[in-house]
Amino acid sequence: MKLLILGDLLGRTGREAAIRAIPELRARLKLDFVAVNAENASHGFGLAPDMAQALFAAGADAITLGNHAWDRREIIAYIAQEKRLIRPLNYPSGTPGAGSVLITLPDGRRVLIAQAMGRLFMDPLDCPFQAVDELLLRHRLGNNLHAILVDFHGEATSEKMAFGHAFDGRVSAVVGTHTHIPTADHQVLPRGTGYVTDLGMCGDYDSVIGMTKEPATARFIRKMPGERLAPAEGPATVSGAFIETDEKGLAIRIEPVRLGGRLAPAMPVL
Ligand SMILES: [Fe+2]
Ligand SMILES: [Fe+2]
Repeated sequence: MKLLILGDLLGRTGREAAIRAIPELRARLKLDFVAVNAENASHGFGLAPDMAQALFAAGADAITLGNHAWDRREIIAYIAQEKRLIRPLNYPSGTPGAGSVLITLPDGRRVLIAQAMGRLFMDPLDCPFQAVDELLLRHRLGNNLHAILVDFHGEATSEKMAFGHAFDGRVSAVVGTHTHIPTADHQVLPRGTGYVTDLGMCGDYDSVIGMTKEPATARFIRKMPGERLAPAEGPATVSGAFIETDEKGLAIRIEPVRLGGRLAPAMPVL
C-alpha cells in the first residue's frame, strides 16, 4: 500500500498548495491513502469546517489536528459528525471528537489513522504512550487491517524518537508533526515501522515556522509583546512523507516529499 501524509498546512498558502498537490501526488505516486495535518490551516490557528471539506474534496482521506485543534470554535460541532477528522487521542475523556478513525478504502482495504500528542514542552495531557498502547489492543495489523498510521504531534525530538521505537513493529508508520520544520531522519525502524521525526509544514519557509518573519523575530530580540503574528503568504513548499507497506502492513520504505516553494525538492521514484 502507498500512503502519503502531509505536515501542518499553514494558512491560505499552505492550504491552497496542498489542495493543488494532492490530486497530482495521488496520480504520480499511485497513492492508496492520503492524510494531512491541518491544525494551522485557518490563518495559522485551527481549521474551519469549509476548509476541511475542501481538503476531503481534493482527495484527503483523513485530517489530523494538534494543540491548535480548537482555535476555530466551529470545529467542535463539526468534529462530532465528521469521523475522518481526528484530534489527539490523549485529551481528557469527554473531549469532542475522536483520536483515531478506521477508514475503508474504495477497494475494501482498511487503514487506521491515529494522532497522539507529546508532553515535553507541550500542555500536560494523559500519557500518549499508554493511549496508543490501549488503541493497539483493539487494532492489530493483519487480517482485515492493512495499515496503521500514527501522527505524533510533539515538540521534542527525543520524545518523538522514543515514541517511534515504542511502537516499532506494531504500526506501519509513526510520523511527527508540530515543529513545522522537516527532519531528514526518514527510516524504517528495525521491526518495520516507518519513522520520521517531523514532516515539516506545508507553508512559506521564508518565515519563522510559517509566520511573518519581522514580528516573529522582533519578539525574540525585544522580549516585549509586539505585532500580532500572521502567516507568511509567499509560495508554499508542500512537505510530507511517502510510505510504502508490505502485505503485513509494515513499512518497506519511507521517503520525503517536498514540492514547490523554497525548500530543496524531493520526490520518491516508483
Ligand atoms: Fe502546527
Ligand atoms: Fe502544533
